[in-house]
Amino acid sequence: MKKNKILFVCLGNICRSPLAEEVFRTYIEKNGKSRDYYLDSAGLISYHKGELPDERMRRHAARRGYKLTHLSRPITSDDFYDFDYIIGMDESNILKLKELAPGLEELNKIHRMIEFCDNPILDHVPDPYYGGEQGFENVIDMIESACENLLNTIENKKQKVW
Ligand code: 4NP
Repeated sequence: MKKNKILFVCLGNICRSPLAEEVFRTYIEKNGKSRDYYLDSAGLISYHKGELPDERMRRHAARRGYKLTHLSRPITSDDFYDFDYIIGMDESNILKLKELAPGLEELNKIHRMIEFCDNPILDHVPDPYYGGEQGFENVIDMIESACENLLNTIENKKQKVW
């Protein structure tokens, strides 16, 4: 069966999107769905290319059992063709993704992570990079709360196609 390919995107690809990739990977492993999914993450800037996630993000994620090993990479035009879902973290990410999308079909692959979060108090997943330690905890809470809805959305969509 064809895998569902999901790309998580943020600005630097060292905080929010590598976290989302690993949290969702862990969730689908627990749900026995690993074989059906291909996950990756990317950034809208290449400034941190080749770097591991931010040390603060790795530390906070490790406390909840997530080991972040992704190396930052910028998004490419091929990503828009290769992935089925391209999920941005905030409005600035979404606007930039829309600018970069090569066509209508690819434009329709773009989603906001916050759409899947449970009871969100914000309309975006905030950038924790310039803030304090609590910001990293908040991002993990938000991303963890999105996993169930994200999986259900993708699985339901698949059923509709069948
Ligand atoms: P991220 O956080 O987009 O969640 O990876 C950031 C990381 C780096 C920078 C900004 C946001 N930066 O400006 O270098």
